[in-house]
Amino acid sequence: MCGIFAYLNFLTPKKRSEILELLVTGLKRLEYRGYDSAGVAIDSADNQEITLIKKTGKVALLEEAIKDFSEKLQVSGHLDTHCGIAHTRWATHGVPSEINSHPQRSDDSNTFVVVHNGIITNYKEVKVFLEQKGYRFESETDTEIIAKLIYHFYKQHPTFTFRELVENVVQQLEGAFALCFKSKHFPGECVGTRRGSPLLVGIKTKTRLATDHIPILYGKDHRPHGRVEIPSLPRTGSTEFEPLEDKQVEYFFASDASAIIEHTNRVIYFEDDDIAAVRNGILSIHRVRRGGDDPNHREITTLKMELQQIMKGNYDYYMQKEIFEQPESVVNTMRGRVNFETKTVVLGGIKEHIPEIKRCRRLMLIGCGTSYHSAIATRQLLEELTELPVMVELASDFLDRTTPVFRDDVCFFISQSGETADTLMALRYCKQRGALIVGITNTVGSSICRESHCGVHINAGPEIGVASTKAYTSQFISLVMFALVMSEDRLSLRKRREEIIDGLKNLQGQIRKVLLLDEKVKSLAENLYNKKSLLIMGRGFNFATCLEGALKVKELTYMHSEGIMAGELKHGPLALIDNTMPVMMIVTRDPVYIKCMNALQQVKSRDGNPILICEEGDAETMAFASQYLEVPKTVDCLQGILTVIPMQLLSFHIAVRRGCNVDCPRNLAKSVTVE
Ligand code: AGP
Repeated sequence: MCGIFAYLNFLTPKKRSEILELLVTGLKRLEYRGYDSAGVAIDSADNQEITLIKKTGKVALLEEAIKDFSEKLQVSGHLDTHCGIAHTRWATHGVPSEINSHPQRSDDSNTFVVVHNGIITNYKEVKVFLEQKGYRFESETDTEIIAKLIYHFYKQHPTFTFRELVENVVQQLEGAFALCFKSKHFPGECVGTRRGSPLLVGIKTKTRLATDHIPILYGKDHRPHGRVEIPSLPRTGSTEFEPLEDKQVEYFFASDASAIIEHTNRVIYFEDDDIAAVRNGILSIHRVRRGGDDPNHREITTLKMELQQIMKGNYDYYMQKEIFEQPESVVNTMRGRVNFETKTVVLGGIKEHIPEIKRCRRLMLIGCGTSYHSAIATRQLLEELTELPVMVELASDFLDRTTPVFRDDVCFFISQSGETADTLMALRYCKQRGALIVGITNTVGSSICRESHCGVHINAGPEIGVASTKAYTSQFISLVMFALVMSEDRLSLRKRREEIIDGLKNLQGQIRKVLLLDEKVKSLAENLYNKKSLLIMGRGFNFATCLEGALKVKELTYMHSEGIMAGELKHGPLALIDNTMPVMMIVTRDPVYIKCMNALQQVKSRDGNPILICEEGDAETMAFASQYLEVPKTVDCLQGILTVIPMQLLSFHIAVRRGCNVDCPRNLAKSVTVE
C-alpha cells in the first residue's frame, strides 16, 4: 500500500544529502506496507526549482538514482529551512512506472508537487474540467489531477496562502486520500490533509514543546456551487493561531508512525478534513467548517513504540520474528486485564459499555482475512458464554449485501492495522444505523480506533510482516477475554470460566513448547514445498486454524491451499483425496474428536496419508499417521491458538524454501486502505 513521508526543517540547518537520506530512510520504514515504485521531491541546487527523482521498484533503487543527482543537486550545501516530500506507490490507476509514481506534478516546471495515498473517485470529472482549461496530463494516475488543480487555483488566486489553495482543492475531491503538498511558490512550507486515509505529523524541537495541543481554526462554510466549475474561490479567513513557541523545529509528516518514531515520539494524528499547514515553522490545523461537537484542538500524543520493536532483531524475516514473539505478545494482550488469582477479567476500554452490550439483540463480528478468522475462531465460545446470537461477517461481503443492522446490535470491527478500508466502511455503515461500535485493533490512533465508541487494543506490538501472525493470536485472546467479561455474573458458567482463565495462564509456556517444533516443521516443509496444493482439515474449535493455515500457505508460498470443514468432506472435498494429495488434519481431544476421527478414517480409506496436528502424547490418534506434530493440550476453546502456530511455521518454511518474499508477498500489502 502507498506510504507518505515528508520532512520539513525550519531554522535547523541540514545538508541536502542529509535531507535526502532522511527522506529515503522514511520510505524504507514504510516498505513493509508493500509498494511498486518510489519517489522524492526536494529543492534544486539554486532553490528556485523543485527536483523530482522517481524510480520503479525498491527504495534501494531510488537511493541509487539519488546518487546520480548528487552533483547536480550540490548535496553538500546546507539548507536552514526546507521541505521535502517522498512516497512509496502501490499502483491503483496506471501501471507501476516512473511517470505514474509520486510525487505527481502540476506542470513541466514542477510548480506544485503532491504525494497521495488512497483513490480519488471523481478524478475523471476533474480531469475533463482541467483538460478543457488546457492542462495536458502525462500520467495515468488519479493523483495528477490534484497537482494540476492546485496550480489552476493558484493561477486564479495568486494571493491565496498555500493552505487556502489546498482547502479549495480538497473540496473538489471525492474518495479517500492523505496528501502532502510542496510548491516552489511556497518554499519551506508543507501542507498535509486527509480523508479516509491515515496521516500524522511528528514534531521535533530542541527544547520541550511549550504546548501539548494545537488549536484548530475553523473557517466559514464556503463550499462552492458545482464540483469543478468554480467562478471565484472564497478565502477561509482566519490566519490567527497560537504559534508553537519554538524557533528551531522539524516536522515529519507520515502515513504511518513507523516512519517517524526514530526522530520523535511527539505526534498528532489528523482527523478527516484537517488541513495541516507549516508556514514560518509554525504548524496550524484548519477545518473548513465546524460541527456541533467539534473539538477546539488536536492533542500532541506521545508514541510508546520503540524503533527496535519494528526492526528484525536476530531473525532473518519480520514474520519469523513475529511468530517467535507470540509467547510475549499473548501475555501483553492479557496484561492488566486478566487477574489469574481472583479469576477475573477487566477490559478497561469497554467496561462502561458492558451493561449495554449485555442487553443487545446480537453480536456482529466483522473483519477481513486473518482478522475475520479470529472471529470464526471465537464465535463458538462467544455463543456459549454470552448466549447471544453471534454473526461473523467478511467486511466486503457484509457491505455488498447491505445487511440489516439495528440500534440494539453490537458490532465488533477486528483489524490489526485499524485502517482496512472494507472494515472501516462496514464500521461507518453500522454506526450510521445506530449500533454500538467496538474496535479490536493493534494500532493506537488508527481510523478504526478513533471511529469506534469503545474498544480493546490487542497490544501485540508492531506487526511488520504482511502475513499476520501474532496479531491473530492476540485478537483471538482479546475476544476470549470479552466472552469471559460477558459471563462474569453467571454462576452456572463459573467452572467453565475458571478453566479458561487457567488455560490462558498456561498459554505462554505452551506456545514456547509449540515453537520448539520449528525444526520438525522445517523438515516437513522440505517434503511439501514442491507440491501444488495442500488441504487442511478440521472442525469445531479448530476449523479457524484450517482457514487461517490455508490463508498463510496461499499468501506466502503462492501454492494452492484450502481450509476444509471436516464435516463437509463427504459433500465434495473427498473427491480430491488420493495418495498424491497432501493433506493435514487437526485432531484434538475436544467434543468433536470422534467426528474428526471419522473424517481421518475416510481420508485414510481413500489412500490419503494425512499429516496430523494432535495433542501431545495422544498415541491412539498418532497411530493413524506416519507424520504428526504434537502440541500441548489446553482447554478446547483455546486449542486453536496452539494449533495455528505450526501452520504459521509451515507456511513460513515453505515460502523460504520456494524462494518467496516472506515479508512482502507478491501483489499484497500490509494495510489494505482501498476497497
Ligand atoms: C493476513 O495474513 C493478511 N495479510 C490479511 O488477510 C489481513 O489479515 C487483512 O487484510 C486484514 O487486515 P487488518 O487486520 O489490518 O484489517
